[in-house]
Amino acid sequence: MENKHCVLVSGGAGYIGSHTAVELVEAGFDVVIADNLSNSDISAVEGVRRITGVDVQFVDVDCCDRAAFDRLFDDYGFDSAIHFAAYKAVGESVSDPMKYYRNNLGSFMNLVDLMRAHGRRNILFSSSATVYGEADTLPVTELSPRKPATSPYGNTKQMCEDILRDSVKAYDSLRGIALRYFNPIGAHPSALIGELPRGVPQNLVPYITQTAAGIRECLSIFGNDYPTPDGSCLRDYIDIVDLAKAHVAALRRMIGGGGERYEVFNIGTGRPVSVFELVETFERVNGVSVNRKVAPRRAGDVVAVWADTSLANRELGWRAERSLDDTLRSAWAWEKHVRGME
Ligand code: UFG
Repeated sequence: MENKHCVLVSGGAGYIGSHTAVELVEAGFDVVIADNLSNSDISAVEGVRRITGVDVQFVDVDCCDRAAFDRLFDDYGFDSAIHFAAYKAVGESVSDPMKYYRNNLGSFMNLVDLMRAHGRRNILFSSSATVYGEADTLPVTELSPRKPATSPYGNTKQMCEDILRDSVKAYDSLRGIALRYFNPIGAHPSALIGELPRGVPQNLVPYITQTAAGIRECLSIFGNDYPTPDGSCLRDYIDIVDLAKAHVAALRRMIGGGGERYEVFNIGTGRPVSVFELVETFERVNGVSVNRKVAPRRAGDVVAVWADTSLANRELGWRAERSLDDTLRSAWAWEKHVRGME
């Protein structure tokens, strides 16, 4: 029997990591999930196992703990790693920057060092559209300039991209891809995995679903006086399963040896959607109402950002497929599953 290609998924118990683990298994890869569960729950790993019917391996490890992370490399023969393990709350990163620099940079530097030391090849890094800041021209391409980060969180994304670029350039044994995600939303169609925010959600869709479920009283729409058609901000909301599939496509490219040794791809839909449009679509497709009010602008928000996805479409053979309607149905199905509604 042919040996399967094994992939380390750090942060694989998290939102994007768990969905990616499912798509990897379904595409025929062996997966090892490594997660310290600091901002995730083991139930996501159980969900991955239930969806795939495979007893996916899980290791409770902190990627910042170099000795423990090193042992994981000794114990598992993966040749590729997808690195999701990171903190991601923008506001918290402003009030506690060292927490973000220590964790997000420390874990990634350990990964790059250990991949190299153990002779492993492919590194896929979770980057973000946050690197573009307030772009001068829209949609943004991969050649659009990166703007100075407005938060330590955003800065860690830029710095990790640079660490990967420079390492691949210097060390012939490595290959790297950074995927710049736009706004991931929705849940797996099984409703067995999805986004599990701790405390008050900071992101729009979890706030909407929790308001619809009666857990939050009222959604605040942060600003209706932006220079956009309806006055609210524009984003590129990418379905989580589509996003997960982009990782499989990127991994295959690295394994197959196509393209440059270090590459960057935008992963979005290419379609801007306003906050009002998103809330109204959610209500329409799910037949529920979301109590809402207009509130002042949120500090640090960019007015508009959406992706030019032609590079990923062409080079990865990947495109976003799920409709916004279906994605928002899945977000509500997941919230109801979590709350034990119906
Ligand atoms: N919004 C609201 N009310 C809320 C939450 C959000 O109106 O309760 C609005 C925001 O103002 C923004 C849009 O909904 O216009 C999307 O906000 P999110 O917080 O869901 O997403 P962001 O675009 O702000 O954040 C995303 C990623 C971050 C990343 C950031 C910067 O979640 O990881 O983009 O690019 F850092």
